[in-house]
Amino acid sequence: MANSSNSISVEGIDAAYGAVRVLENVSLRVGSGETVVLLGTNGNGKSTLMKCIMGWVRPNKGKVIAEIDGEKHDLSTLTTEQIVDLGIALVPEGRRLFPRQTVEENLLLGASRPKARPHIKTNLAFCFEIFPRLAERRGQLAGSMSGGEQQMLALARALMLNPRILLVDEPSVGLSPLLVARTIDAIGQLKEHYKLTVLMAEQNFTQALRIADRGYVIVHGRIEFEGNSADELNNNDLIRQFYLGM
Ligand SMILES: Nc1ncnc2c1ncn2[C@@H]1O[C@H](COP(=O)(O)OP(=O)(O)O)[C@@H](O)[C@H]1O
Ligand SMILES: [Mg+2]
Repeated sequence: MANSSNSISVEGIDAAYGAVRVLENVSLRVGSGETVVLLGTNGNGKSTLMKCIMGWVRPNKGKVIAEIDGEKHDLSTLTTEQIVDLGIALVPEGRRLFPRQTVEENLLLGASRPKARPHIKTNLAFCFEIFPRLAERRGQLAGSMSGGEQQMLALARALMLNPRILLVDEPSVGLSPLLVARTIDAIGQLKEHYKLTVLMAEQNFTQALRIADRGYVIVHGRIEFEGNSADELNNNDLIRQFYLGM
């Protein structure tokens, strides 16, 4: 049987925008089938780390290794398109939908990966099953939907790529507390259904830890704390008080 192990290892990366250093010696690992959360408030480097994994930002030091179906790939040698083709999908911060295309068109545009094309029909059906709201609104322009609906659509669109590894960048941004909870629940369900390996960046500590197996706290571009369980992160008063302002 084929090895179905899918994991990500970020190994000691530094990243900068020109002279602005943003990530410093960041290492983290997401094991096969795990849901790992990267916790941190605004401006601490969460999105930059996601961009490094996707090849949008190139680290100055260190590397990112992805294991897809048991085979290892050094992502620093690949283009973003090749990284997506491998089966790594990002739900970007702020959703980045095509606002003037319909819900269904956005989903079909998501299925650009060659390996995903044979599964378009079943994936679309599953997206509509798990998000009935998207089915009802399949002909509606994406830009005219509510924030929560747009986040569901952004998640569904990433799933149309048939990914092995899903990166989700701050799904809670701009959503009401109820919708944050629903979005986080949906990520948990999708992960189970597709047996995904998930790395999620979040500021919403409490919500993220409902589905995370474990996590890291990033402060000023450095990993300051690693919790080996959600409880370990939950029960760390120092983190709550100082890093997350709770
Ligand atoms: N394109 C960019 N050019 C210059 N600086 C940037 C750019 N993107 C992000 N930064 C800076 O990098 C730091 C980390 O940003 P980011 O990775 O977006 O953090 P987070 O996602 O945790 O909010 C911030 O200080 C931000 O201002
Ligand atoms: Mg961000």
